[in-house]
Amino acid sequence: MLLPMPEQPDEAPNTDVPASWWRDGVLYQVYPRSFADSDGDGIGDLVGIRERLDHLQWLGVTGIWLNPTMPSPNDDWGYDVADYLAVHPDLGTMDDLDALIAAARERGIRVLLDLVPNHTSDRHPWFVDALSGRDAPDRDVYVWAPPAPDGGPPNNWISNFGGSAWTLHEPTGEYYLAQFLPTQPDLNWWNEEVRQRFDDILRFWFRRGVAGFRIDVCHAIVKDRELRDDPPVTPDDHRELRHRSVKPVYSANRPEVHDVLRRWRDVADACADDADGDTPILVGETYVLELDELLPFYGTGRDELHLAFNFLFVHADLDADQMREIVEGVEAGLPPDAWPVYTGSNHDAGRLTTRWAQDDERRARAALLILLTLRGTPFLYYGDEIALPNVPLDAETALDPVARRTGDPSDNRDVCRTPMPWTDAPGGGFTTAEATPWLPFGDLAAHNVAAQRDDPASTLHLVRDLIALRRGTTDLTAGAYVTLDAPAGAWAYRRGDGFAVAVNLSDAPVTVEGLDGAVAIATDRARDGEPVAGALELGPWEGAVVELG
Ligand code: NOJ
Repeated sequence: MLLPMPEQPDEAPNTDVPASWWRDGVLYQVYPRSFADSDGDGIGDLVGIRERLDHLQWLGVTGIWLNPTMPSPNDDWGYDVADYLAVHPDLGTMDDLDALIAAARERGIRVLLDLVPNHTSDRHPWFVDALSGRDAPDRDVYVWAPPAPDGGPPNNWISNFGGSAWTLHEPTGEYYLAQFLPTQPDLNWWNEEVRQRFDDILRFWFRRGVAGFRIDVCHAIVKDRELRDDPPVTPDDHRELRHRSVKPVYSANRPEVHDVLRRWRDVADACADDADGDTPILVGETYVLELDELLPFYGTGRDELHLAFNFLFVHADLDADQMREIVEGVEAGLPPDAWPVYTGSNHDAGRLTTRWAQDDERRARAALLILLTLRGTPFLYYGDEIALPNVPLDAETALDPVARRTGDPSDNRDVCRTPMPWTDAPGGGFTTAEATPWLPFGDLAAHNVAAQRDDPASTLHLVRDLIALRRGTTDLTAGAYVTLDAPAGAWAYRRGDGFAVAVNLSDAPVTVEGLDGAVAIATDRARDGEPVAGALELGPWEGAVVELG
């Protein structure tokens, strides 16, 4: 029998609270500068996010991760923090953040902040002090080394943004490490003082009701103590590494990072929320590209990260074999208490509609159906719910420091950070008609929230209905993942005893055998409710959730 869809007339918000907001719910990444501008300066802000909570509640998400909200000179758009205990004036005030956290909580939505522990801004008072001399109190808060015998950098480590990772500070004659921009000096996580300062930063935010952190560059904060050279990249390395000359073996993912993660987990566990007893969660930007490097970030499943972003999955093609193999590897390798996480878009990698789906909405829907039905927490990126594509932009006018350095438009991360198109009116419902948004819109008429909200067959309604089905169905949250037989190009899996998912990631029609029941939700909404007797036929790039029975 077909499970009745949870009662939800179009205007009713999702109000049921899942048993665990972060395991059973759906999380959503908000790029604050681009979500909603409440004061008409062309820059999104915290009040704007609060004013759009209705959308998030209606969609059914249970938590939001805000990209950096702390004061910053914005050399890397907030990932260069000048004060860890305050709010960036472009985005609002501490009162605005408190009000957002409280208003979100009333709607069953938790707020995660972005923590940047790998590096600070060069304008942070710690670094200003460190530059004042070799004996400065905060000198050892950063990573310093003498020049190599030829006067060059101390070793061969390279910046993730190109060039050497070392910058010579001529007045003191030593190099400091900066694995991103030279204005983002790396902190020295071998220094107990750094660890204590961050314990305090975590506690400060947890006490304000922040429900956790997405932790930037989580895998790389601890570096090899001896600063050994990284080895060359080889043809066997992941394709995302092959543009580099050296592989980050000593400059990242050192075993000692796990000591820090266990320490932070203790801090989080000791900070249960006064209101509901929940403990804050730690979500790592664990940018490693081998499964056996990713899984250890969960520790035992109870003592390190709650969620470790899976960049193998992010960087897979929208391809049945590639994705299935990654998911099977996670299922086989994760400790029983650990919980997977899957995402298709973010502010660095780009939007799934372009990356995976080549701006083909059928493919984007198939990808969203996968994300919202796997065993693990889905993270959506703002705009995913309307299959928003990247906005093509050149490198000459880029605000992204990477594209400015390389001059290569394919490096321009602005393309996936453009303002949320709420309507097709001037200003897009993001800002006023008179304001110039900090980044341009794409085609407002082609993609906007208002138009899709009016169309029950839209991607927006598909995403909302998939979230509601997931949240209302234990099989789709906690149920086991089991791969099912599927023809080439397709991927099929069972969730728990009650549901199966079949997706055709190819240009040819396929038939998935062995399914009986009825379609609960299909990417072609006209097929919802269709009986399934022994086999499900799927057109190119079509997918369906089937209630078995
Ligand atoms: C990863 C962040 O996601 C990215 O946007 C940033 O540029 C680097 N870390 C440096 O913080």
